[in-house]
Amino acid sequence: MSTTPTATVTFEGVSKTYADGTIAVDNLDLVCPAGKITVFVGPSGCGKTTSLRMINRMITPSAGRVLLADQDVSFLDAAALRRQMGYVIQSAGLFPHRTIEDNIGTVPVLLGSSRRQARQQAADLMARVGLDPSMARRYPYQLSGGQQQRVGVARALAADPPVLLMDEPFSAVDPMVRHDLQLELLRLQTEIGKTIVFVTHDIDEAVTLGDQIAVFQRGGHLTQVAGPETLLAEPADAFVDDFMGTDKGVKWLSFIAADDVPLHQEGVTPAGHPVAVDHERWQLVVDDEQRPTGWVAPGETSEQLRACRRTFRPDRDQIRAALDSALLSPAGLAVAVDSEDRVLGLASHADLATSIRAARTQR
Ligand SMILES: Nc1ncnc2c1ncn2[C@@H]1O[C@H](COP(=O)(O)OP(=O)(O)OP(=O)(O)O)[C@@H](O)[C@H]1O
Ligand SMILES: [Mg+2]
Repeated sequence: MSTTPTATVTFEGVSKTYADGTIAVDNLDLVCPAGKITVFVGPSGCGKTTSLRMINRMITPSAGRVLLADQDVSFLDAAALRRQMGYVIQSAGLFPHRTIEDNIGTVPVLLGSSRRQARQQAADLMARVGLDPSMARRYPYQLSGGQQQRVGVARALAADPPVLLMDEPFSAVDPMVRHDLQLELLRLQTEIGKTIVFVTHDIDEAVTLGDQIAVFQRGGHLTQVAGPETLLAEPADAFVDDFMGTDKGVKWLSFIAADDVPLHQEGVTPAGHPVAVDHERWQLVVDDEQRPTGWVAPGETSEQLRACRRTFRPDRDQIRAALDSALLSPAGLAVAVDSEDRVLGLASHADLATSIRAARTQR
């Protein structure tokens, strides 16, 4: 779909002091790389929205400049600039008296598409953001909050802009829906590869979405910019350390690939193979296709199977998923499977600890 090349957004010594003397942004130097998601995070009032709005010139800097590719945005036509930048806000900001398809098609029509083309394009975009086509003729009030946010994203993408600005787009929806929207955005981004600048208060959202995260402090001061893994493992100062929240160590495990976890075959028992009554360890029974059927406890028989609730994929998952598999397993063992759900082997807590230690020393 993406025909427009993406562009880097660069802040060079940008400050914003409002008329009443409030310093909202203080000498910001930051590069938001093309085709990547940069997340602005920080406490309320630290200048996230102000920084975001200086990108599309809704706010003018008091000092410094913002570049799109290598052009100073203050020299670009404001209306043309905004068409190059999809903008999504918390309440979705939909036109209440227009249908969903017309909401999405507004900008394409402004840009010269016929109404019919715009509706076709709206249908494509709805599919892309995971909305049922039957919703096209509804009005915003007839949609749930999460569905409205999807419309907001579809509308922002309608002009195929190289840059997408998102100001707390998911914060008004409940946590489950919010997580779905985050995953949907990540999936969509693998297809569209836009330069996305995403504002949030929520550090978990930032860690999930950000290729890079910019942590702001009150007074509009940028404290640290780094990938999520670095922010978790090596916060620049006590403020960032504190802001990253509790469970930093566990969150960090989400960034360590599980591909070198040692796996064992002992304890994997093919179906039909009798489990010795005096066996001392847990046995994972697998079917003819090597897929897990269930666990047999020490001393029990294979009639008494316990569910294998969670597996992990060494080729795709991180250590956190492997640990989850071990914690949810009655045997305390993580079950590694391939893309066809065939068992590759088992890993103990000690095996996982070995991998974690190796990752720490490589850091
Ligand atoms: N038009 C304005 N006039 C004066 N001060 C303003 C104006 N707009 C914002 N501010 C102040 O500038 C600072 C930064 O505001 P901004 O909206 O950028 O913060 P934010 O990080 O987006 O906060 P939040 O997380 O609450 O949305 C705040 O102290 C705010 O009160
Ligand atoms: Mg804000």
